[in-house]
Order: sequence, then C-alpha cells, then structure tokens
Amino acid sequence: MTIYRATVLDTPQSPFDGARLRTGTDIGLRVVEGVITRRDSYAAIAREYPDEQVIDLTDGILLPGFVDTHVHFPQLRVIGALGMPLLDWLDRAALPEELRMADDDQAAAVAGGFLRGLREAGTTTALVFGSHFASAMDVFFTHARASRIRIISGLVVSDRILPDGLLTTPERAYEQSVELAKRWHGVGRLHYAVTPRFSLSAGEEMLAACGKVMQDVPGLYFTSHVNENKREVEEVEELFGGLDYTSTYDAHGLLGPRSVLAHDVHPKDAELALMASRGSSVAHCPTSNSALGSGLFPLKRHVEHGVSVALGSDVGAGTGYCLLKEGLQAYFMQQLLGDEGLPLTAAHLLYLATRAGALSLDLGDRVGDLSVGREFDAVWIRPAHGDPLDMGIEHAKDSDDVLAKIFALGTTDDVAGVWVGGEHLSQTSVG
Ligand code: GUN
Ligand code: ZN
Repeated sequence: MTIYRATVLDTPQSPFDGARLRTGTDIGLRVVEGVITRRDSYAAIAREYPDEQVIDLTDGILLPGFVDTHVHFPQLRVIGALGMPLLDWLDRAALPEELRMADDDQAAAVAGGFLRGLREAGTTTALVFGSHFASAMDVFFTHARASRIRIISGLVVSDRILPDGLLTTPERAYEQSVELAKRWHGVGRLHYAVTPRFSLSAGEEMLAACGKVMQDVPGLYFTSHVNENKREVEEVEELFGGLDYTSTYDAHGLLGPRSVLAHDVHPKDAELALMASRGSSVAHCPTSNSALGSGLFPLKRHVEHGVSVALGSDVGAGTGYCLLKEGLQAYFMQQLLGDEGLPLTAAHLLYLATRAGALSLDLGDRVGDLSVGREFDAVWIRPAHGDPLDMGIEHAKDSDDVLAKIFALGTTDDVAGVWVGGEHLSQTSVG
C-alpha cells in the first residue's frame, strides 16, 4: 500500500463532449496492489491512514501515463529522415532498416532502445507496429515483458510490393501469427495485434488470412495503416477494383472495437461512417503527417461521425516518442486548418494522449485517468528548478494554463517518474 501525494490533472470525461479538465490540488491517491482504491484530499487520506508510506510528488504535476496508439518498434534508428513523401520514405529509409531485424542481435538492441524511448517519454501503454520477422517478435515481446510497459504488438505481414526479404505467404503469415499470439497474448501486460502492413502490401488472400487469425484466436487486436497519402490511396483503390481503403479491411472482418487504423488523413465520409459503425478507432500521428507532408488531419469530421481518435507518435516517420510533442503538433494542425479545424484546448490534448488512447485500446476500465478503480499508470512532470517550464507552472493562472504550458514546453527531460500498475519503472528495467 502506498499513498501518492500530488497535484493531479486528468480527463475522465471527454472534452469533446464538453467536459472540463479535472484538477486535484494536493490530493492523496491510495494504491493497493497497483490499483487506486481511494482518492481524496491528502489531508483526509493522511488522517485515515497515518502509518502508510507516502510518496511526495507535490513538487511537480502528476498526469495519467501516456498511451501511444501507433509506434513502430523497428524504426528507432530512422527517426529524422526528412524530406520524403510516404512511399519514397518507405523505400529509402524505413524498409532497408526493417530488413535488418532478421538478425536477432539487431532486433534485441533496437528493442531495448525502443522501450527505453517509451519509458523516458512517460508512455505506459503502446500499440506497437512490430517486425516482419517472427524471431524478432519473440525478441521484442521478451524485452517488452521485462519492461513492465503495457504493450500490444504483432508480426507485420505482407505479400507484395515490399522488398523480397519482408514478404511472406498467407499460409505462413497465418501460422506464425497464431503461434505468436498463442505464446504472448495475455502474458503479463502483453497483448497481440494482427498487423498487415497496409492494403498496398497485403492482397486479398493475405487480408483473408489475417481475418482467419482473428477468428481462430479470440480477443486479439487489429492494427494497420489507412488513407495516409493521396498517392497511396489511389494505388490501393486501383488494386482493389475501386473499393475504398477502409472497406479493404472491413471486407475481411478486420474492423471492430479492438481495431486501430493509423493516419486517416484523407477519408471519405462513407469510410468514417463505416469505422464509427464498427467501433474502430483512428491513431492520429501529427508529427509524422507533417514530416512526410501527408496532409492536415480532419479531426472535426472524425468527431462529427463519432469516430474515436487518439494520438500516435508513429516513430520513425514521427519525430520522437514524446506525446507532449504530438499533442502540441495536433493543436497546430487544427489551427492551420482554419474554419475546417477543431480548436483544441490543453484538456483536449491531455485527453487525446491518455483517456482516448485507453478507450481506443479497449482498456478504458483499467487505465487512462487517475480515478478510483484504475490501475496506477502515471507520469510525474517535474521540470528542473528555474527552467522556463518550472517558472511557467509557478506563475500559471489556473490548471488549464499549467497544462497548456506542459504541452508547449515539456519534453522527455521533464519526465521525472513513471509508474505502470503501481510499479515504478526504474532506469534498469529496460535498455
Ligand atoms: N504505411 C505502411 N508502412 C508505413 C510505415 O512504416 N510508416 C508510415 N507512416 N506509414 C506506413
Ligand atoms: Zn505507421
């Protein structure tokens, strides 16, 4: 049993439905076996439990742990390859690096650095795009389990367009995916996601094989890319005889409440309606969309259609693991859209980086805010004394202002502590 004393900001209700930021000034969270069992003023909790261990986090701000709904494990070393649109970037930067994951030692080194990147950014849950190599996925899951972070991931499968070394057959994809899912789904904090790279590189038979994995192993997640780049969208529609991009997945039963599609920068209204009807979510990846010049994300249309949206860093097209940066970039994008944009407040940004991600990953009953009943997944933001962020927080006019300053100025340097299920992630637990 531990009592955490802190100023806590979180968004248990959606600001997209008009809810405000929840502010808990000098409150106590009592955590028993990783779960928050009491939340009250610190004074009341201290009176009730005078003999329990208190962790004093009052010098800073406590937020729910960040939830990254789209990030590629094998792309750690290609972050920062600028100046190319999606398909050129894949050919020249991402795919040559992904071929190197055939070597287990390379995969292990990259997995260690990747998980360290998540921890340093305060990410406590991530839906991770995996590798095309089954052995690299065993390496990754082994490291992910040791990291204590909640990780959902799976073997990436493709049968066309990519370099030969990344291709497989639908039969082999099915066998390896089922084997990995049976080995890792539900082990510790790990879950398995069926992961065709995108419909451009996965034909009908491959998508059918993915559908069969979902049918044969209950409770799995599904993730892929959709409507990211205009040229990509045109090519997919041509390959599928005019079918829209979202329907290429839906035709094989791949869309449900545990499905997350990354990007969706160029959707048709019918696709948004289809996603909403399936309860599927979109991972909005703003630094990636900006770096690759993919376009400005139509958040308002997603909200109007009732499609839930959360944030993804999309490393390595995205420029780092920090969801504070993604939140800020999401805000910029909506500003740049003018009348078509959805003006975002700091509370929206926190919601997108935490609660929305938890809901997208069907983990809303466990994580995403710091309410009683949730697991204690938290990130402690404590800038160095005298830093601009420290001074900004000290002189902020209210807690919305504090949060806006955290998104504007915060970096991984300001992440002073990270907990998952009440476990403090120490520097030695990963990489
Ligand atoms: N579409 C297919 N593969 C990828 C990838 O690795 N990154 C991004 N941003 N889009 C993709
Ligand atoms: Zn991606």
